[in-house]
Amino acid sequence: MVDLSIGTPVDDTPAVLTEALAAAGNAPGYPTALGTTALRTAAAAWLRRRLGVQIADPLGPEPSLIPTVGSKELVALLPTLLGLRHGTVIIPEVAYPTYEVGAVLAGLAVRRTDVPPADAAGVVLVWLNSPGNPHGRVLTDDQLREWVAWGRSHGVPVVADECYVTLGWDVEPHSVLHPAVAGEHHTGLLAVHSLSKQSTAAGYRAGLLSGDPALVRPVWEVRRHLGLLVPGPVQAAMAAALDDDAHVDAQRERYRSRRDRLSAAVRAAGLRIDHSEAGLYLWATRDEDCWTTIDWLSGLGIVAAPGSFYGPAGARHVRMALTAADDRIDAAVERLAP
Ligand SMILES: Cc1ncc(COP(=O)(O)O)c(C=O)c1O
Repeated sequence: MVDLSIGTPVDDTPAVLTEALAAAGNAPGYPTALGTTALRTAAAAWLRRRLGVQIADPLGPEPSLIPTVGSKELVALLPTLLGLRHGTVIIPEVAYPTYEVGAVLAGLAVRRTDVPPADAAGVVLVWLNSPGNPHGRVLTDDQLREWVAWGRSHGVPVVADECYVTLGWDVEPHSVLHPAVAGEHHTGLLAVHSLSKQSTAAGYRAGLLSGDPALVRPVWEVRRHLGLLVPGPVQAAMAAALDDDAHVDAQRERYRSRRDRLSAAVRAAGLRIDHSEAGLYLWATRDEDCWTTIDWLSGLGIVAAPGSFYGPAGARHVRMALTAADDRIDAAVERLAP
């Protein structure tokens, strides 16, 4: 079986992380929810260097950045942490399921849309995901600006999950916090980042939340009381990882090579690949119900994820992950050969 259904990294965690983790192994005291000075400094520098984002003073009294225990818990808990109790959360039409989980957990309604609605009544939070899972779609600056303006004009926080932001292939994804999108300040905006994919460290549970201090502060304060703390050795590994671009670039090239090989084979087998201009998935279709495609692929010994898992609009696509090892990608390429 070639399992391309799950996007979990399989390559070794780079030494820059494992060595920093081991060196920080003596950790008798509690870590802080705010993050160490070294981590916040490294994260702010990473945002500036890699994404062109200048956050408010990361070490100042009003936090503009905190670490999270991977980004999934933050995605699931954000409506709860912000104290949202009534209303509707907007999520992408085809989306990573955890946005809906988080809304339901907080007792909120969910509305799927990729364009700002004319009627903002009851909307309390907007999730964007660019580059998107499952389809690898990247929002343009115009699209991001439209959401930012809509959120600000209606007083609704706009939160962008950007955990694939360093994995642009055909386009360079912009953060919602980039000055071309956000303007001079980050009012009403949050961005979510993750080291899981870019640093091959999903097992570390290492994420970041940054943006408007008026939104980061309440999240940080509640997280302190919940004990949602990133372990100290992981914070040390995160700081080391965010200071080092070489391992991110090397991993990116591994994914690029897998993407080149797999996408050529998928197209040669007669599928069409939509979006997929960034991120770790191919969003492929044979213009048929996704379960028919899943059946056909399983006959070849390949497991993909049915697009319907991500919303009704995904029902004619399958998602194929680029996170498999090279020999598994080679096997998939062989099996797809017409
Ligand atoms: C869109 C999206 N957001 C968040 C996550 C969670 O990532 P992590 O919790 O490893 O940071 C994933 C994981 O695949 C994802 O695809």
